[in-house]
Amino acid sequence: MDFNVPIGADGLVADPHRILEALSTVRWLQGQGARTILLSHFGRPKGRPDPRFSLRPVAAALSRYLGQPVPLAPDCVGPTARAAASAVENGGCVLLENLRFHPGEEANDPAFAAELASLGELFVEEAFGAVHRAHASTVGIPEKLPSYAGLLVSREMEELGRLVEAPERPYVAIVGGAKVADKLPFLEGLLGRTNAILIGGALAFPFLAADGVDLGASSVEPGLDDAVRAFRAKAESLGTRIELPVDWLTERTEDDGSSSVVPAPTTTVPADCVARDIGPRTRDRFYEVIKDSKSVFWNGPLGLAEDRRFAAGTREVLAGLGTIAGYHVAAGGDSARVASDLGVDGAFQYISTGGGAALEFVAGETLPGLAVLPDA
Ligand code: 3PG
Repeated sequence: MDFNVPIGADGLVADPHRILEALSTVRWLQGQGARTILLSHFGRPKGRPDPRFSLRPVAAALSRYLGQPVPLAPDCVGPTARAAASAVENGGCVLLENLRFHPGEEANDPAFAAELASLGELFVEEAFGAVHRAHASTVGIPEKLPSYAGLLVSREMEELGRLVEAPERPYVAIVGGAKVADKLPFLEGLLGRTNAILIGGALAFPFLAADGVDLGASSVEPGLDDAVRAFRAKAESLGTRIELPVDWLTERTEDDGSSSVVPAPTTTVPADCVARDIGPRTRDRFYEVIKDSKSVFWNGPLGLAEDRRFAAGTREVLAGLGTIAGYHVAAGGDSARVASDLGVDGAFQYISTGGGAALEFVAGETLPGLAVLPDA
């Protein structure tokens, strides 16, 4: 399971999308009388137990949705995990504490994977959001037990597969957010597959910086000039149009700590300002590209959308998308939440539970957690 979900300031699950999407498989297993042991990672606790990354809020949400208590075992291996697993009755389930409390999870340590595998007889992969990781729970266990793709994983493969096999063209990707160095290799996989890639958010900064654009006080991921130049050369040779912001909404922080919104009508950002959202001319240009599209893949907000002052870029582009017929997929827990907070999730025919996993899948990568499943 990928129960890596946002938790609110109240300590409760803030967006249950990933949990809800996994319930069909849990209910099906319960209906078959299976004794279900649920495994998940949560956050990045770096291989050590850390109460901030406990799955407790998830256990509470699961109990509510399933209408029966789903106990949380304090560990995913060792005597407490074994005791919790053997206490499950037919048709019942237990959630084991965060897999990433142990370094063996991310290292895919064989002894750790063997211990997890020893708790059950069959493995059902339902953590689509994590199948791009070669971890003990995604690769180690299925190497040791008869393993199957769950209902969610199968659906994800079918839906996202529509963008891989023969997407209806024009096919446009809209990408934003940050982490350029992480995303660039997978965006490269979209070159040639897509007719156009619209790049917003902090993801656009290194592209513009490599062109010599002054981005003021915006923080630009360093050392990417050569990579983004190679990316653009490849895009040109493979016939994928790349669109970058041509104007911004920026934020200026005043001496008293307050901040104001400063429009920047060109790509240049004033020296004391940080680019926070794409501007109205960019929105229009992006709409011009998507209005003729037949397939769209979206990952990552186009600005700092959690701040209402900088949400218009993402909201308007997605609202425009909602007026266009076609097959539109949103990918990534954060992206899905932003779209629903802004009331524009109706623009999408499918909302994937995967972020990085969905991006890698549509880029045509082999995902280790899927490759290991005999039926996937
Ligand atoms: C996600 O939220 O994308 C998945 O749960 C994977 O999490 P990770 O990036 O920490 O591996």
